[in-house]
Order: sequence, then structure tokens, then C-alpha cells
Amino acid sequence: MQRQDAVREIERLRAQIRHHNHRYYVLDDPEIPDSDYDQLFVSLRNLESGFPDLVTPDSPTQRVGGEPLSGFQTVTHEVPMLSLDNVFSIGEFLDFDRKARERLGGLIKSADDLFAEPEIPYCAEPKLDGLAISLLYENGLLVRAATRGDGATGEDITHNVRTIPSVPLRLLGDTVPARLEVRGEVVMPKAGFLKLNERAAAQGEKQFANPRNAAAGSLRQLDPRIAAKRPLEFYAYGAVQAIGIDFPPSQFETLQKLVTLGFRISQEVKRGHGTGFVQDFYADVLARRDSLAYEIDGVVIKVDNVRWQQELGFVSRAPRWATAFKFPAQEAITTVEAIEFQVGRTGALTPVARLAPVFVGGVTVSNATLHNFDEVERMDVRVGDSVIVYRAGDVIPKVVRVLVDRRPANSHPVDLPTCCPVCGSDVERPEDEAIARCSGGLFCPAQQKEALKHFVSRRAMDIEGLGDKWIEQLVDQGLIRSSADLFVLGKDDLLPLDRMGDKSADNLLAAISHSKSTTFPRFLFALGIRGVGEATALALARHFGRLEPLLAADEEALMRVPDIGPVVAESIATFFRQPHNIEIIQRLREVGVVWPDIEADAEREQPLAGQTWVLTGSLATLGREQAKEKLMLLGAKVAGSVSKKTSCVVAGEAAGSKLAEAEKLGIPVLDEDALLALLASHGLQS
Ligand code: IVH
Repeated sequence: MQRQDAVREIERLRAQIRHHNHRYYVLDDPEIPDSDYDQLFVSLRNLESGFPDLVTPDSPTQRVGGEPLSGFQTVTHEVPMLSLDNVFSIGEFLDFDRKARERLGGLIKSADDLFAEPEIPYCAEPKLDGLAISLLYENGLLVRAATRGDGATGEDITHNVRTIPSVPLRLLGDTVPARLEVRGEVVMPKAGFLKLNERAAAQGEKQFANPRNAAAGSLRQLDPRIAAKRPLEFYAYGAVQAIGIDFPPSQFETLQKLVTLGFRISQEVKRGHGTGFVQDFYADVLARRDSLAYEIDGVVIKVDNVRWQQELGFVSRAPRWATAFKFPAQEAITTVEAIEFQVGRTGALTPVARLAPVFVGGVTVSNATLHNFDEVERMDVRVGDSVIVYRAGDVIPKVVRVLVDRRPANSHPVDLPTCCPVCGSDVERPEDEAIARCSGGLFCPAQQKEALKHFVSRRAMDIEGLGDKWIEQLVDQGLIRSSADLFVLGKDDLLPLDRMGDKSADNLLAAISHSKSTTFPRFLFALGIRGVGEATALALARHFGRLEPLLAADEEALMRVPDIGPVVAESIATFFRQPHNIEIIQRLREVGVVWPDIEADAEREQPLAGQTWVLTGSLATLGREQAKEKLMLLGAKVAGSVSKKTSCVVAGEAAGSKLAEAEKLGIPVLDEDALLALLASHGLQS
């Protein structure tokens, strides 16, 4: 190829690749398949290798591959990188807002915009938990990236930052500013962090404690090839030193402008007025914290109007026009007071750390799970240890790390129990399993209680009003030992129980009696066979249709059921081989537990096979769960969202966006009556 043609072709390819990079890494909205993108990239690289002098640092091929540095250069920030003050409660935020209004009131009384806006307009952003960096662009090209450091000087990490795909090497758009410094946060998304740690664990390497450390560690590498392999993302949150480009006098609009220059900003950013808006934003983002792709430790609230920002100015190292409104910390340090072992429904022994109470994730925590024996051994956690406890959302708090440096001198490793702490039976721990179990089966009171709680639960036999407290009492008083005993309880048995009134006793007996008529899948699920959750119970019920052939099935026959592998097959077969289990099943049938047989897979026509249905809104007669079960019995898959592939949508009361989507896509919609009629026509009455 002629040099002139090469110049043109290289420019064309680069423009295309930049465009697709931006669609993929910044907008999350690729236009072409990965393979086409790869093709463009290969073409560019080939051309560039034919004309090496045409390679420029902003070429997409130059993100990766530089040689390792021998050390970091120091960078002086022309505009210092400040930090933020924190508030921890709405009360503290109200103070912040009041002070800002007072200052603005005093300062700009002459301007009438304050009177037009009695509440401060705020730009509200998530507080990304990563590493603050500065990106310097000259004539539209990235020339330097630096860490925040102490705010006045940082380290030059350009070689690593160039490898982050969401950092533009060259600004998008027609205006090419002579100079622009963009600030923002480098984060490692949670999913990428987990994968990175999994890989590290598999290779016996050290794992990172959290995504922030992983992001920081990646940027502090001298060899850019390491950073290039790390899943890092950059989110812009501000611009300084703009020469040759105008920015709007509003933080919110500045962010939009950064988007047009090719930067990614957080999707959560919102603008609104006053403290009510801020309070709602805080609550909304906090509620969705766990489902966001990256970790955040609060929200940042900024006075939106840049002129007002200037009026408010700074105090020491933080602006008066912005504050971080922090979420409750998800990690805290406390000490282990005891390590105990709980026995679950299936006999699994779970080690639990009893802790000195500590406030974490918004609640006081005094117990945390240690998962299993392997984990106790791996962490070598001991009584007296200082540990880091983590609690996110509604998840059970867990001990994530032992601070070995703070370990008291006289501590000793935990003795893992060889006998069940509840019934004294031997503890079994198969060689390659992390989980140890009590071998006491239904004789172990811990397992009896848990098995019963499971048996009566909503998704199993659904005995309304028979909560854990009653089960505890019924077992402790010796009134029931197994599930079948429930159905022979009389009013005289119940009345002496603590806090049991005449009416509650009647209600409970009625609920127990009502539950006798159930479905085959619910019954199987209620038995609490290890490895048999709701979906497996349904698969078993559909495959065998009736109980007898299931009882007779060996492992091989069980493995013919969709999705049942050797482990679950063995667990099911072992369960049904135990005489005391068969005895309980027989007794349950004797006391009147019944269900309609289902046509077994082999015999059944599956009128909805191959179809995907979606349920939305509330279904008054059936309930969503039952409707789902029944549709699945007819062979349909039931999905959670509407797409072009959806065959039919069932819309109950107050159906929302899914119904709208179905209508948009022209997908058939049934109401509840039509669904009931359809089910009835296939012999599935409600
Ligand atoms: S603005 C003068 N916006 O929080 C304003 N900071 O304690 C300075 N951060 O070092 C920062 N998300 O690492 C701002 N949306 C956001 C942020 C954010 C996270 C971090 C940043 C900074 C620290 C301030």
C-alpha cells in the first residue's frame, strides 16, 4: 500500500475503533460483535507494523505494552486535589445545607437568584470507593495521569492509566481544548474483583482485601502489562483547568459535557432541590448499594451552581460547597469472644464467632458466620483474636480477616468438634468436603427442629401461623418429634403452650388441617432431602408423577431426571432407603396428607413446551408461585423479563412496565381469568 493510502486507512480505522471503544467501554452499548471489533484492531495493527513511523501514542493499539518503569515520577497538581468533609446523618446534612444557605444568603443578597430558589439545587453523585486520579489533556490528547497523593503532589501513573479502556486517549468531539484536566475515580467493578481473587486463589497467590485495594495495587505497578490485565474502570466527576473549551456553570451539566468528550460518568447522578431531594437520593442509592456494579461508601452532594460554589469557597482542604454523606461502614473491627458450632437442618455444622458487639452495616452485630471448618482452618481464627467483620445489606455478617498482629500471646487454635454439640453423634467430614455434618439424622433434636421449620414453611407445606417459636415449644415439650406428629395434635395439646389462646389454637389447627391437601412437588420439597430444593422437587414430581415409582428409583433412574447429577441422586436414594424416613412418609399419608398425582413426563403432553412465559402484577386467585408451578407443569419456561422471545405474558392487578413492554413488542397478554381457564382446560384446577 502507498504511504498516502496507509495514512488515510490508519486514520479511518482508528476513528472507527475509538468509536466502538466508546460504545463498548463508556456507553455499555456496543454496536458490532466483538469479532468484528477484533478484526478492525488486527487490521490497524498490521498496517501500523508496515508503517511504524505512523504509530502515535493516542493510537488504540498503544494502550498496552509499554516497558516497565524503574520508579514513579512525582507530579505537582496545578490545582490541588482536595478531599471532602463527611456527614454521617441527615441531621448533619441539614446543618451543612443550613450553613451553605446562610453563607449564600449573606454573600449574594443582591443577586435575586437566591430568592427565586429558596432551596439549594444540588448535584448528587455516588461516592465511588476507588482511587482519585487526575487526567491531563493537551490539545485533546492524554499527556499525563496522576494519583491524588497528598493532594498537592501525586505520582505519575500515565503508563497504567493508558491501559484503562474507559479512559479516552484522545477527547471526542470537534472542539479540541488546548488544556483540560479531568478528575475522577478509578474503580474495580465487584464482578471483576471477585474473578481476579478467584484466579489468585487458584494460583495460590495473595488475594486483595477489597476492590479499592485491588484498584490501587493495579495502578501502583511499574509494569503496565499487569494493569492492562486488571478490570479497571474510570468514572469522571469533575473538570478543572479548561482552556479552549467552555464548561457550563453547573456541576450536573459539566458531567454531561464530560460525557460528550468521551468519559464515563456514574449512571446514578441526579440533580434536584433541597434537603428532601438529598434524603431521597441517599435512601435510594443506599437501598441499591449491593446491586451496583462497583462499591460505593456513600453519596457526594455538591452545590450544583458553579458560581455559588465559588462564593462558598474552601475551608482548609475541603470545599464548603460539597460534602460526602457517608453510608454506615460495612466493615468493623471487633474481638472474638467464643467460637461455637451450630447444627443446621441437614446436620451441617456451621462455626459461628460470638463477638464483642460492634456497629457495622447500620446494625449492632454480635455473631458472625465462619462458614465451615475449612474456613476456620484457613483463617486460623481464635478466641481472643481481633477480626474484621463485614456486613452488607441483609446478608449474614461474616468474619473476613484476622488481624494476626493483634493476637494475644496465650491464644490457641480452635478444636474442631468430633461430636455433634447437640446430640453427641459422630461428626462426619468427607475428605474433599469443607462441610462437616452430624450423623444423628432425625434423632438429632437440632435437625428435628430445623426439619420441622422447613416442613411447615411457606414454600413447603405452607402451614400459616406455625412459626419457629411454636415449633421450638412443641419439640421442647415433647409434643412432636416428626412432621407426622403435627397432624394428630389436638386443642388440648396446644392450649398449655406459652401465649397460646383459644382462638389461636383453633386457627393453628385449621391451618394444619388445611395444609394436608397439598401438591406433590411441595410435599417432596417439604421432606427436606439434602440437595432437593424447589426446582429439583418439581423436576422429580414431573418425572415420576407419583410417589411409588420415585421411592423405587435407584441412582441411575434418578439421574435420568433433568438436572439431577450423581451427588443429588445419591442423596435422594439414601434418604428413601432409611426405614425411619419411609415410616414418616407412610404416617403422613395415613393422617391424611394428600396431593393429586401428576402425569409423569413419559405420559404427559406438554402443550406449552418450548414456550417462555412471563408473569407480572399480582394474581389474586393463584399467586405468582403457584401460577409458575402450573405453567412449568405444562412445559413452559417462566422468565423474569419480557423480550422478543417471550411467548405470552400473564398480567395480574397493577401490572407495570413488563405489560407495557409486551404491548410494545406485540406479545399476547392473558389476564388471570384467561390463565385459570387455560390451566383448567389442561386439568390443572386452582
Ligand atoms: S469530588 C473537591 N465526587 O472522595 C471535591 N469525589 O474525600 C473533591 N470520590 O478523593 C472530590 N466519588 O476519591 C468527588 N462523585 C465524587 C466522588 C469523589 C468518590 C472520592 C475521591 C476523593 C474523595 C474525597
